[in-house]
Amino acid sequence: MLPIQKGCVGRRVVCHVSTGLSKRLLGLKMHGSEATRPLKSRRSGPLRGTAAIPGDKSISHRALILGALTVGETRITGLLEAQDVLNTAEAMRRFGAQLTRHDAGEWAVWGTGVGGWAEPENVLDFGNSGTGSRLVMGAMATTAMTAVFTGDASLRERPMARVLDPLTKFGATYAARVGGLMPVTLTGPELAICVDTRVDVASAQVKSALLLAALNAPGRSRIEQSVLTRDHTEKMLAAFGADISVESLPQGEAIHIMGEVELLPCAIDVPRDPSSAAFALVAALIVPGSELRIPALLLNPRRTGLIRTLLEMGAQIVIENERESGGEKIGDLLVRSSALRGVEVPPERAPSMIDEYPVLAVAAAFAEGKTVMHGLDELVVKESDRFAATAEGLQACGLTIDVRDTPQETTLVVEGRGLDGVPGGARVATQMDHRIAMAFLSMGLASRDAVSVDDTSMIATSFPEFEKLMRDLGADFQVVNA
Ligand code: S3P
Repeated sequence: MLPIQKGCVGRRVVCHVSTGLSKRLLGLKMHGSEATRPLKSRRSGPLRGTAAIPGDKSISHRALILGALTVGETRITGLLEAQDVLNTAEAMRRFGAQLTRHDAGEWAVWGTGVGGWAEPENVLDFGNSGTGSRLVMGAMATTAMTAVFTGDASLRERPMARVLDPLTKFGATYAARVGGLMPVTLTGPELAICVDTRVDVASAQVKSALLLAALNAPGRSRIEQSVLTRDHTEKMLAAFGADISVESLPQGEAIHIMGEVELLPCAIDVPRDPSSAAFALVAALIVPGSELRIPALLLNPRRTGLIRTLLEMGAQIVIENERESGGEKIGDLLVRSSALRGVEVPPERAPSMIDEYPVLAVAAAFAEGKTVMHGLDELVVKESDRFAATAEGLQACGLTIDVRDTPQETTLVVEGRGLDGVPGGARVATQMDHRIAMAFLSMGLASRDAVSVDDTSMIATSFPEFEKLMRDLGADFQVVNA
C-alpha cells in the first residue's frame, strides 16, 4: 500500500503537469479558440430507467475495416455512429470501399479484399481517434501504396511510432514529425514479408494493427504480447474466415495468422459499449435512490475490469441473462445506488478497464476510504494525459489525492469522502478528452456543489447521445456560457 504523501500532493501534480504534460497542454490550448460547449452538472434526484447505450466503439471500427478488406457485402447492425467511427468509415471510402447507411446503426460495406485497397487521393483525417488511425495504418501497411494520416490537435500529439516501427518489419516505410507524431506518411512495400514479433506496449491498437498488416503478408505471422489486451480483432478475424489461432504463453499469448487469405463477408451485430455505459453506471451508484437497467451490454472478459472493481467496492450490480451475440458475451445489468468502499486495483487489471479510470476515480471519490489504482502508465497517452487530467479534476473538486509517476510505477490514490462528502464546485478542464468530460459531469450529479466542464463538444467522438440519455434518466445538466 502506498503512503499518502500529504502536503506535497498539489505540488506533485503540478510538477507532473509542468514537465511531462507541458508540451501536450500547449498543443491542446489551441482547441480553446474553436467552438467549445461548457456544461454544468448539479446534484440530481434518483436516476431511473433504462439506458440504451450505443454500439461498442472498438468493435464498430473493426467491423468497418474488416468489411472493407472483404470482397462482398458485410452487414453491420448497431454500429456506433459517433465521429471517431464516421471518420473510419470515410477512410474506408477513400481506400475504395462502398459504404451504405440503411438506417440508424445499419450499414452495408462492400469491400475490395485483402491487398485490394486503392491509394487514397488525399490526406486522411481521423479526427480524435487513435484506434481508427492506428488500425487503418496496419490495414494498409502491407499493400503497395502511400497514405497520409492526420488528426485533430489531440491526435497529432499522440505517439504513432509504437505502431509504425513494428509495421516496418513487414517492409513498410514511414515519415512522421519528430517524436513519431502525425501527420504521418506511410508506404506499403511491393512485396510484404511476414513477421515473428513481440508487442511490448500493453496496447490492443498496436496488436490489432499488426494482425491487420499480417493479412496481406505472404506466410504465417506470429505476434506475441505479454499482457492480455482486448481481443475483438482476433474474434472478428475468425468470424470473417481468417486462418488465425491463439496460443497461451506462460506470460501473455501469441497469435498466429496466415497472410494472403481471402476474408468472407459476414454479419456483425455490434454489442453496446461498456466504456460508454461506465458513466451512467457510476452515476447510478453515487446518486442516492437510483435504479438503472443497462440491457445487452458487451461483457467480453477483457473489457469488464470496471464492473469487477465496482463489485469489489460493494456496488449493487446484478448481471442477468448472460448470453452470446456475434461471438461476444453480452448481458443485462441492473444497478442500484450503493455505499462504496475504497479498494486496491492491481496493475494487471489495467488493460481490461484502461478507458474507465477517470470514472472509477469518480466512484472512488464517493467511497469510504482510499482507492489505490496501479499500473496507469498507458493513461498518459490517451486522448489527453488522462492521468494528469483526472488528478487535476479531482483536486479542483476538493478531493485529496496522491500520484506516483515514476519509471517504475504510475499510481493514483484517491481519498474517498463517502456518498455525501464530495465538495465539487469547480470548473474542470477536459483537455479535449471526451471521457474526462463525461466522468466529471457524472461527479456533479452527486457532489455538494455543481461541477462544470469547460467543453462537451468532444463527447460526440464516442457517445453523441450522452447528454440526452443522462437527462432522460434524471440528470440535471445546464448549459452555461463559454
Ligand atoms: C482500443 C484500445 C485501447 C483503448 C481505446 C480503444 C481498441 O487503446 O484505450 O479506446 O479499440 O483497440 P490502446 O490499445 O492504445 O491501449
